[in-house]
Amino acid sequence: MKTLTVDLPGRAYEIQIERGLLDQVGEHCRAVLPKAERLAVVTDSTVGPLYGQRVLDSLTQAGFQACLITVPAGEPSKSLAVLERVYDALTGFGLTRTDAVAALGGGVVGDLAGFAAATLFRGVDFVQIPTTLLAQVDSSVGGKVAIDLKAGKNLAGAFWQPRLVLMDPAVLDTLPEQIFLEGMAEVVKYGCIFDRTFFDFLEARPNRAALMAEMEHILYTCCDLKRGVVVEDERDTGNRMLLNFGHTLGHAYELAGNYTRWSHGAAVAAGMCTAARLGVSLGVTPADLPERIEALCAALALPIRIPCTQADYAAAIGLDKKGVGHRISLILLEGLGHGIPYPMEKDQVLAALDALLEVL
Ligand code: NAD
Ligand code: GLY
Repeated sequence: MKTLTVDLPGRAYEIQIERGLLDQVGEHCRAVLPKAERLAVVTDSTVGPLYGQRVLDSLTQAGFQACLITVPAGEPSKSLAVLERVYDALTGFGLTRTDAVAALGGGVVGDLAGFAAATLFRGVDFVQIPTTLLAQVDSSVGGKVAIDLKAGKNLAGAFWQPRLVLMDPAVLDTLPEQIFLEGMAEVVKYGCIFDRTFFDFLEARPNRAALMAEMEHILYTCCDLKRGVVVEDERDTGNRMLLNFGHTLGHAYELAGNYTRWSHGAAVAAGMCTAARLGVSLGVTPADLPERIEALCAALALPIRIPCTQADYAAAIGLDKKGVGHRISLILLEGLGHGIPYPMEKDQVLAALDALLEVL
């Protein structure tokens, strides 16, 4: 078992990583929730049938009254309508302020169940049991929870740290290839912005079988890097923005594909590759770096370039909620493993992208 502590003052919690952990969820939850009687597990229509019963059995053995609340798989479940159904199911189950909610699923279930936990009775205890690679290396750690509104993604949200994060790498065996590789875009991101040695490690294992053989180490490394920025900048007003590497340009690609053509992971991969080229053109990034990132993304069947208009870039940069006024901080690479915020005028970003895209 690998264990990390997210050492937030007064709200420290552990991330536990081990193959087979799904069958020990009950005892680990009992250790951090000694007084809870009921534990409601929110899951989705794909993950519930695969893993729900094992989690329920383990919780029951640990003395919890447990239930499964299943929402349809997919992003549309991060909605007000589904949230209301989750609240109804939680109150119908008899949940009280001293009970707890767990999320068993990918980032959609984690964000939805976490938002329900943050708001029901002004906040109940919450446990993350992430089952996608993206959820294990990113969304289950750090306390961001949200639902989507008509006006945009993640617009109603909260910071609500879990009491515990339990990751079983074995659940990744059932992930469809595409979803596994999308999660890899975020894994590659950690190497790019924080850890050159980790990037080298990934470069030497550019396929799923080789990566799965080292998955406990990969999850541990990514979560360790993420907990570092979360502890330093829980509320995302400083260095947590480094995690945005590839995401601002990625928004433009998601927009260009009408949020259906390109997955988030694919858009982030192309965003990282283009941001690396942009960094070279601005004199920030070493010239040999983009090729290495592109080669790794290509080996993982992730796109390195996505066609996009200036209007898409303008919209993504203008709408990016991390930007302030006319300026935006793009995350660029000063070296491999060293991301930096690079504040620029928004029209300067567009001009630099324009010049870059002519030569790419
Ligand atoms: P997801 O939750 O939709 O999961 C992808 C698909 O995989 C779903 O169909 C799901 O049913 C299926 N699945 C999950 N686990 C499985 C398993 N073990 N075996 C087989 N199938 C499985 O998508 P995601 O990529 O995990 O998360 C995307 C969401 O995460 C977005 O809504 C995004 O906004 C959010 N997110 C949140 C944060 C944060 O910090 N809170 C960070 C990044 C992304
Ligand atoms: N996924 C970005 C963050 O947690 O800040």
